[in-house]
Amino acid sequence: MHLPKAELHLHIEGTLEPELAFALAERNGVTLPYATTEELRAAYQFDDLQSFLDLYYALMAVLRTEDDFAELADAYLARAAAQGVRHAEIFFDPQAHTARGVPIGTVIEGLGRALERSEETHGVSTQLILCFLRDLSAESALGTLDAAKPYLHRISAVGLDSAEVGHPPAKFREVYEAATALGLRKVAHAGEEGPPEYIREALDILGVERVDHGLRCMEDPELVARLVADRVPLTLCPLSNVTLRTVDTLKDHPLPAMLAAGLHCTVNSDDPAYFGGYAGDNFDAVRDALALGPEQLRTLARNSFEAAFLDHDEERRARYLAEVEAYAFD
Ligand code: HPA
Ligand code: ZN
Repeated sequence: MHLPKAELHLHIEGTLEPELAFALAERNGVTLPYATTEELRAAYQFDDLQSFLDLYYALMAVLRTEDDFAELADAYLARAAAQGVRHAEIFFDPQAHTARGVPIGTVIEGLGRALERSEETHGVSTQLILCFLRDLSAESALGTLDAAKPYLHRISAVGLDSAEVGHPPAKFREVYEAATALGLRKVAHAGEEGPPEYIREALDILGVERVDHGLRCMEDPELVARLVADRVPLTLCPLSNVTLRTVDTLKDHPLPAMLAAGLHCTVNSDDPAYFGGYAGDNFDAVRDALALGPEQLRTLARNSFEAAFLDHDEERRARYLAEVEAYAFD
């Protein structure tokens, strides 16, 4: 669906399509444990978040040079633009690369090169969000933020991702305080597989402005009331939830109930190369499975621009919102 939208929950490493993975593997002399793209695609069967993360981290071994990261981001931006994405706030996982000996500067400068020309090349404005891996230590997160200091002009926010259960937001209080002191915005994954309490911690202890996923808030009516009252955006990823079995089928997705409750929902793609679709595909899928009408879809698109970190450029936000209102559904 080409409805104009902002993508606010997108892991750039999760946009690595099998074809590009094989091309980069060959270029960099990396051997993949799969013979063909078909064989690799056949491995995309997941039981939960961890089973996906195992493959997600393994496949990243092909990303080595600045050019690799630039190519990855450019390929994503082209696909996103073709599905109506006008603004993208893009996650990256520096620790997944520095752990393999790839310097953080290589990652950020490579991504940055694609992002800075994106508006001209693809008509998509961009921001970069540095995520900490929550299954690594708090010290490792602090070291990562420190290593990113020469590149802060390219980074607008910090986030928190990877294996959720057993790694509550409170573990990262100190690094979020340090990020705040550096003037960075704050988001965190919470309530994907973890309990509603993790969403409260992300708000109360980390001070996040958006919650990534946040699905499990629906188990806690008091928390829902708070999220509605404070208009906290939730960046939902419907196809991700089905693939990682957070919901049984798309028809069981709580999105309609969440919208009816007055939650500030947005629809995003998470790791589109693995979960069966980009932002527009996620919109198509919820429209078809949940019978969302044009006004609900328009609300989701409007929500995405309202939740975007565009406070420094309200004119742009207004322009994008006007595009949403002008969009004609067929
Ligand atoms: N959840 C948590 N961590 C992640 C995800 C996700 O869906 N994708 C990439 N890292
Ligand atoms: Zn995610």
